[in-house]
Amino acid sequence: MYKISVIPGDGIGKEVMEATLHVLEAVNVDFEYVFADAGDEYAEVSGIPLPQETIDIVKDSQSCLFGAAGESAADVIVKLRQELDLYVNLRPVKSYPGTKSLFDNLDFVIVRENTEGMYIGLEEDTEEGAIATRVTTRKASERISRFGFEYAQKTGRKTVTAVHKANVLKKTDGVFKESFYKVAEEFPELESNDFYVDATAMYFITKPEMFDVVVTSNLFGDILSDLGAGLVGGLGLIPSANIGDNQGLFEPVHGSAPRHAGKGTANPAAMMLSAVMMLDYLDETEEARRMENALVKVLAAGKVVTQDLGGSASTMEMAAEVRRVLEEGE
Ligand code: NAI
Ligand code: MG
Repeated sequence: MYKISVIPGDGIGKEVMEATLHVLEAVNVDFEYVFADAGDEYAEVSGIPLPQETIDIVKDSQSCLFGAAGESAADVIVKLRQELDLYVNLRPVKSYPGTKSLFDNLDFVIVRENTEGMYIGLEEDTEEGAIATRVTTRKASERISRFGFEYAQKTGRKTVTAVHKANVLKKTDGVFKESFYKVAEEFPELESNDFYVDATAMYFITKPEMFDVVVTSNLFGDILSDLGAGLVGGLGLIPSANIGDNQGLFEPVHGSAPRHAGKGTANPAAMMLSAVMMLDYLDETEEARRMENALVKVLAAGKVVTQDLGGSASTMEMAAEVRRVLEEGE
């Protein structure tokens, strides 16, 4: 029995969460769900988007499923990542049949450092304009590199690639690159290499099959992950994981999509794939594959899918179909 905190949040967050929990009922793993509030709608009644009670509930759970927040997203999800020290942002770039993926058979993963780099929020005004501070520590660089290598080991991947710009950012990315290769020595059975971030952006488009596990810093990871999302067909399909030493938080990359909210037209696949990532994180690998395969079959058949995938099914109709395939094993 796993204790899972559930934050549906705002807009389509609530709808894709309901759809995903419906499918999880057919997975052979026992969950105890603890629901928690956060987001715009909660802030309207309480005055704050992320109450301490929610932080405590998430801290007390083995994993968290998060739908989406609206305008308060930064105050909710960024704060949760900090409070829980979720230092890894894991974004798979995987193509599924029946989607608008630009490539077939893509399957790599981006491991983004989530706590420092360009995004620590240290900016100041100067007479001429403004200055931002970029922080890279050996500790965080080694920690994210080690996660990348261990992840590769655990998932049977072969190559870990560091992405940086150490030729220009000589000191900060010098530390990052050096830390990466120091950790690489602990994993002699895995291949390690590195590329500059600009070249990587080009290779993502021209030779994406060359990547397996990509480890990079905060800003580069943010940009490359969205580039990766563009390669495999759009926001309704892209899951993510935020992982720390004690737990993981799993969320679709999309937001509350107000245009779709309340209409039952949101694609639940990204949230479902986030739940699949949670199952993998909990080492429920077999059930993760069962759930993923059921979704893949529904996507490939292309019949009971939402509008963004060219169908006309509602969020819950698609969920019911994924669950049916999961239960019937067809
Ligand atoms: P968004 O991801 O909500 O929507 C972007 C576009 O993708 C829209 O056209 C939307 O209709 C479409 N889309 C997204 N998810 C979809 C799905 N599951 N099925 C079908 N279509 C889908 O991003 P946007 O519009 O920039 O932001 C809307 C709100 O969400 C804002 O208040 C923003 O602050 C918040 N947001 C929250 C995030 C989070 O909670 N992690 C992340 C991104 C945005
Ligand atoms: Mg982003």
